[in-house]
Amino acid sequence: MRVVILGSGRGSNAEAILRAQVEGRLGRARVTLILSDRPDAGILALGGRFGVPARFVDPAPFKTKLEGEGEARFIEAIRAARPGLVVLAGFMRVIKPAFLAEFSGRIINLHPSLLPDFPGLDAIAQALRSGARSTGCTVHYVTAEVDGGPVIGRSEVRIEPADTLESLTEKVHAAEHALLPSVIASLSLRAPTAQAT
Ligand code: GAR
Repeated sequence: MRVVILGSGRGSNAEAILRAQVEGRLGRARVTLILSDRPDAGILALGGRFGVPARFVDPAPFKTKLEGEGEARFIEAIRAARPGLVVLAGFMRVIKPAFLAEFSGRIINLHPSLLPDFPGLDAIAQALRSGARSTGCTVHYVTAEVDGGPVIGRSEVRIEPADTLESLTEKVHAAEHALLPSVIASLSLRAPTAQAT
């Protein structure tokens, strides 16, 4: 199952996926392309380290969503890679209907809370402020409802009274780094063998 990863940031989750692949923990999944909407994103440096093509795709003209010409550029780049799965690993743009229609049922997103709690931005800070005793991370299918698609896997993290935003962020990230590769591995083992090349 060919996997395309999209990210906007440092790429620690993409790195966790690639490490799992190197260590044989990614089932029949294989990362074949990494794309970013930011030319300076750390995630792009993983390409050279892991021998996977990685490149910036210009998302213009919009600042926060992916629509119009930028969306068409992303669709074209991903389509050419013929992925069985598109993974949003810290991709900070809202996905719109044309993209969804093109890769319907094959796009998953990682979110740093136990959805449906704390959707949207700053989910870890939202959880800390709320006084909740736990939070975590979720991998879900992407639908038109932001952070609202069917949940595939979740991992819980306890919030201790002494936790700060920094310590809680570290714990949530550690949970993400375990959850996301394991979800991809299980999806790859369920995927039709025709895609497992
Ligand atoms: C992750 O914590 C992920 O859950 C979050 O961005 C971070 C990316 O980190 N995604 C969202 O908030 C999406 N709404 P990374 O670049 O180190 O993988």
